[in-house]
Amino acid sequence: MRARIIGTGSSLPNLRVTNDDLGKIMDTSDEWIKSRTGIRARHLATDETTTSMAVEASRRALENAGVQPQELDLIIAATLSADRIVPPLSCEVQSGLGAVNAAAYDLCAACSGFVFALNTAQAYIQSGMYQTILIIGAETLSKLLDWSDRATCVLFGDGAGAAVVRADTEGVLAGIQGSDGSKGMVLSCGGRPLRHPFADRTAEHSYVQMNGQEVYKFAVRTVPACISQVLDQAGLKPEAVAYFLLHQANERILQAVAKRLKQPIEKFPMCLSECGNLSAASIPILLDKANRDGLLRKGDPIILAGFGAGLTWGAAALTW
Ligand code: ACO
Repeated sequence: MRARIIGTGSSLPNLRVTNDDLGKIMDTSDEWIKSRTGIRARHLATDETTTSMAVEASRRALENAGVQPQELDLIIAATLSADRIVPPLSCEVQSGLGAVNAAAYDLCAACSGFVFALNTAQAYIQSGMYQTILIIGAETLSKLLDWSDRATCVLFGDGAGAAVVRADTEGVLAGIQGSDGSKGMVLSCGGRPLRHPFADRTAEHSYVQMNGQEVYKFAVRTVPACISQVLDQAGLKPEAVAYFLLHQANERILQAVAKRLKQPIEKFPMCLSECGNLSAASIPILLDKANRDGLLRKGDPIILAGFGAGLTWGAAALTW
């Protein structure tokens, strides 16, 4: 059996902050941000939380799939910015939805998280262990940003996306994923300090730090290679793919990938102009938009591909 995506949903915070809004509070400009990244605006949480956005996106995905919360066997939430260390985000979503029959856990693979969750769902479904799985990518990255560092804070936003996958004869054709922990500090965010009666270890930086140029080089090298690999495994040529739904970090990265794959940029839908980089939430939000805009036709081959902190990367080939 294969994991087939049968419903999608998403949720963005109400507050929309444009590049010009940022230009009023820090030394940056619409021209700098737009020309280097393609980002024009992002949505930032005020009253919303990672949990509230994840629950809303999940409700919409269940409704879109025509599935009741009680039918879910498993919930996997990909996030690096859950509201709490425990309970996990996935358990909070389970409670919010009333998905009383589901097991729930979180997975962290940064911007690759949603693809890792889909590949995990495929493995469970293939094994026969579960039939109906909710996968979520949800982030409140704004709380992990150093708002005095213009090189990083302008790039990210907040939001959540979700998809319901169910055992079917059609669906995921192939999935790959990889990691290179030796390059992890290219994009990092520290945790809490070790402080107890017997130790007081100075905290590592607790905000996102990034070597943008190294991430850029990693992305344009790794993403086309990982897409080629998953296409080979699925027995597909790039020409046969209807859409490539990639992690939304930077428009220039997407253009470079399209060029390497010799595919028109129109086959790479984008939402980064309106949302910025949403880490694990980028791909499911883009997928939901493509689904609701009527871009995806039943039986079309599509590719999902993520890349990011870890370093991690992953791709899935599937038929819609
Ligand atoms: N506004 C205005 N100027 C800025 C800003 C800003 N927001 N940020 C940095 N600058 C300045 C710098 O201070 C620097 O000035 P200087 O030359 O006087 O020292 C100049 O702009 C160039 O800075 P760079 O960091 O070299 O800018 P670069 O051209 O590399 O662009 C960017 C930065 C957009 C991050 C680029 O490296 C990139 O696209 N990297 C890809 C990584 C990425 O997209 N990461 C997202 C998260 S990772 C992920 O999701 C996988």
